[in-house]
Amino acid sequence: MNLPLTLSQFLIKQLARHPERDGLVAIISDLSTIGKIISNHTNRAGVVDMIGSAQKMNIQGEEVKKLDVFCNELCKDYLRQTGNFAAMASEEEDEVVDMGEFGKEAKYIIAFDPLDGSHNVEVNLPVGTIFSVQRLLNQFERTDERQFLQPGRDQVLAGYILYSASTVLVFSWGDGVYEFTLDQGLGEFLLTREKMSVPAECAIYSFNEGAYRYLGDKDKKFIDYLKEKKSCSLRYVAAMVADVHRTLIKGGIFLHPAVDKKGTGEYKGKLRLNYEAKPMAYLVEQAGGFCTESKGNLLDLPGESLHQRVPVILGNKDIIEYYLQNNLI
Ligand code: F6P
Repeated sequence: MNLPLTLSQFLIKQLARHPERDGLVAIISDLSTIGKIISNHTNRAGVVDMIGSAQKMNIQGEEVKKLDVFCNELCKDYLRQTGNFAAMASEEEDEVVDMGEFGKEAKYIIAFDPLDGSHNVEVNLPVGTIFSVQRLLNQFERTDERQFLQPGRDQVLAGYILYSASTVLVFSWGDGVYEFTLDQGLGEFLLTREKMSVPAECAIYSFNEGAYRYLGDKDKKFIDYLKEKKSCSLRYVAAMVADVHRTLIKGGIFLHPAVDKKGTGEYKGKLRLNYEAKPMAYLVEQAGGFCTESKGNLLDLPGESLHQRVPVILGNKDIIEYYLQNNLI
């Protein structure tokens, strides 16, 4: 009988082969525990009064949901006590969070979106947790924002946990992309995919079509090209974790390009560089795809501020190269 490896078995093997990964092995194990707890809460959200607004806005002016608050506190408290992180940044926190005494010996920092797409909870659609781990830079204070302005290329671990029909943990630490699926009965994550690879065929585009009228000409032409020349079908969940997961497995292009909603001629991206764009770009590149903010490789983009937003176009490498190289204006 060919039984899939449990995450624990996989991590023990990794540790034997790569003893230098000990810190990252511990981090994945801790994140998997967080994933089990959040999975349990999102499943029961309707019966444990976890649906709806927390009656406050976050630093980005978005409504905070009750589950956002729960997941953020859980990630903060749980990860703090592991001692693996010197500092953390969360989409739900205004500033960098100091790990205090717990983080004194830590070598890493972590940025996370505790519950991406949380608007989906009340309609029972997919949501996720996204994480990005980088090395602590010794030239700066632990809570210096510049710790989090390192380019995505320097991530040592990135991934997400998707809470959907099943709960999956997807991550990479630089040798391909792994997927583990939570067996709810066993309470264990089991290895279900390794060396994930964005398929060569590009049959899907994933984009909020309602925003088409706010796009610049180049992005409009690219979407027209995907529809008319590539005959792509539209699939859009509006939770980045779910849309990227599908892109990794089924291929295609996910787009959240810059928009000008006010008609001022100023085009802006929506997705957060630290909590969404960087980790997803890392995974997609590890799976043979490509991610751009519209001009170059997003992984080479230096950060400007903690909560910086950027446009994101990711997926099939050949098609994104076409987008970057051809003058679509
Ligand atoms: O940033 C939060 C988020 O929900 C992402 O997960 C998702 O890709 C995006 O916003 C959806 O945005 P829109 O509703 O503008 O299409």
